Amino acid sequence: LSTEFFDELLSSLPKEKGQRTPDIFLYQGFWCQPKEIQAIISIQKHYTAEGTDLILATIPKSGTTWLKALSFAIVNRKQFYHSQKDHPLLTSNPHELVPFLEYKLFADNQIPDMSSFPRPRLLATHMPLGAMPDSVRNSRCKLVYLVRNPFDTFVSIYHFIDKIRPKALGPFSLEEAFDMYCRGVIGFGPYWEHMLGYWLESLRNPHKVLFLKYEEMKENTSFELKKMAEFLGYPFSREEEEDGVVEGIAKMCSFEHLKDLEVNKMGKGAIVNFENKHLFRKGGVGDWVNHLTPLMVERLTNIMEQKLACSGLSF
Ligand code: A3P
Repeated sequence: LSTEFFDELLSSLPKEKGQRTPDIFLYQGFWCQPKEIQAIISIQKHYTAEGTDLILATIPKSGTTWLKALSFAIVNRKQFYHSQKDHPLLTSNPHELVPFLEYKLFADNQIPDMSSFPRPRLLATHMPLGAMPDSVRNSRCKLVYLVRNPFDTFVSIYHFIDKIRPKALGPFSLEEAFDMYCRGVIGFGPYWEHMLGYWLESLRNPHKVLFLKYEEMKENTSFELKKMAEFLGYPFSREEEEDGVVEGIAKMCSFEHLKDLEVNKMGKGAIVNFENKHLFRKGGVGDWVNHLTPLMVERLTNIMEQKLACSGLSF
């Protein structure tokens, strides 16, 4: 992509103040940083989904790291038993094991040669469903979408941005961030459109898209894990269930376990150039009560109710 073409494209797009970059742009209906737009253009042009591809999709801070860990553990469990001392999840951050299309594979104008990747290719993205290349819809590849309640997602985004935001961009207040969030201005948002895209497709085509909720995963990890394994084509056998493999994987991938591993405490650069520890904060449900005023809660509740009306999706 030539710099001239790209600069011209950017200058034609609606923009707002960015949280990690000076500006954020509305591209094909969702908000992105310039580097993300560049990668997305490349993905749309050069990524051809195969029938065996397994794609994990989320909006940032809705549990991506967890979903990656669980999926990797499920799909590779014949090769790496969950209690194995050299399990890759003990020494690598989940983002190193399940690459993002936009931050890793197609970042910085690269076009990766994915032909030699072992099958199934376990991949991840923050892109909305509608922005994915046609091959994603037309092949038999499968997508797992993890949604998180929009209140906790906001609080998680806010804290994350606060940690990794370049100092040169100046402070960013919770109020300002919240106002933008409610107007849909967050990375890959509006969030309601992001989740609705995957939700509606999961209703139309349940073999194509599995729609999971962070809160339900927290509540009953083993049950959701079995659902996921079945959907991905790696169902747990009765012997595995009796041997406690499901619980073993759930425990290995738990917030408490992952956050204390050396790689996640001290490591850096699993996604881009920030410390891995920022990917692990509280890992719970309901922290929003400690950060949002009643007025904020009312505003976001009303927006979500209105946007999700009649969809069957609620929080
Ligand atoms: P909090 O900021 O609320 O703690 P993402 O992985 O999409 O960037 O999302 C990050 C959020 O998921 C953070 O939420 C983080 O603490 C939480 N998280 C990370 N690993 C997790 C795990 N293994 N289980 C549950 N939550 C996890």
